[in-house]
Amino acid sequence: MGWSPASGFQPFAKTAQELQRFFMPANRFNGFTDLGIGIGLRVPHYNHILSKKPTVDWFEIISENYMVDAGRPLEILDQILEQYQVVQHGVSMYFGSTDPLSREHLKGLKRLVRRTSTPFLSDHLCWGSVDGSYTHDLLPMPYTWAAVKNTAERIRAVQDFVGVPVIVENVSSYAEFHLSEMSEWEFLSEVAEQADCGILLDVNNIYVSSQNHSFDPLDYVNGVPHERVGQIHIAGHSKYERYILDTHDHAVIDPVWKLYARAIELCGPTATLLEWDAKIPSFDEVHREALKAKKYLQAVREKAGAKRREKLALR
Ligand SMILES: [Fe+2]
Repeated sequence: MGWSPASGFQPFAKTAQELQRFFMPANRFNGFTDLGIGIGLRVPHYNHILSKKPTVDWFEIISENYMVDAGRPLEILDQILEQYQVVQHGVSMYFGSTDPLSREHLKGLKRLVRRTSTPFLSDHLCWGSVDGSYTHDLLPMPYTWAAVKNTAERIRAVQDFVGVPVIVENVSSYAEFHLSEMSEWEFLSEVAEQADCGILLDVNNIYVSSQNHSFDPLDYVNGVPHERVGQIHIAGHSKYERYILDTHDHAVIDPVWKLYARAIELCGPTATLLEWDAKIPSFDEVHREALKAKKYLQAVREKAGAKRREKLALR
């Protein structure tokens, strides 16, 4: 599937399956397009990607790594953009904080949005700054109605400013607040509805938090507004005696693949991204792991096709 920032999607897909994906609507939060299966763009893979030009549906970049005026990161990004679809993912918006939004940060983000032509922008449902001091961590929120209102307002403001849909990602967590008034998935759903934004559903984060806080991860996946899910994250984690840590340094485990299968059954085929951020293996190994998602996406497509044929036969 070809794409360039200047011309948008080019319909020179080679196979029927690619054509089907190209024309298949997803939802408005990802531009009504299922982008396919992507991986995070990481420094150790730069040379491989630029020299071998592997076929990859899309890359996710960490926005903050490229919010600079010049230099090697931007040079690399521009070369990647010549050949690949890029989607921006942020780590410092802190939608749940109460500090005023930084206009300088938003301006930088918007400049990058124009450069990458990202169809949507993601960041996390968390807080991480107080009175201008940044923790550089994705901290869990109290799931209260006051927090819903504050978070939704901030997401709306960002969405209005950057001019592309925002999708908000659930984080993995290791602590909970006694004053929470609802479950995490109810909180995420309320924020998304009130902000009228999309959701980046990280099924590994759901699994990690479900083990740390003893809830059924299927309740989470079943309980969010599926028509708002614009992207899904999959990743590996580390299991310790008393808790699970979201380390992104392993392959995806079976229970997470099962959650993924359930998520796409409910959301439909959705842009999917494998996160691998520590002990990063070769590009081929990371890409191979990501492409395991194909099996589950194919099953959902076949099921949807069978349903459509059944409906047509009943007419
Ligand atoms: Fe994630």
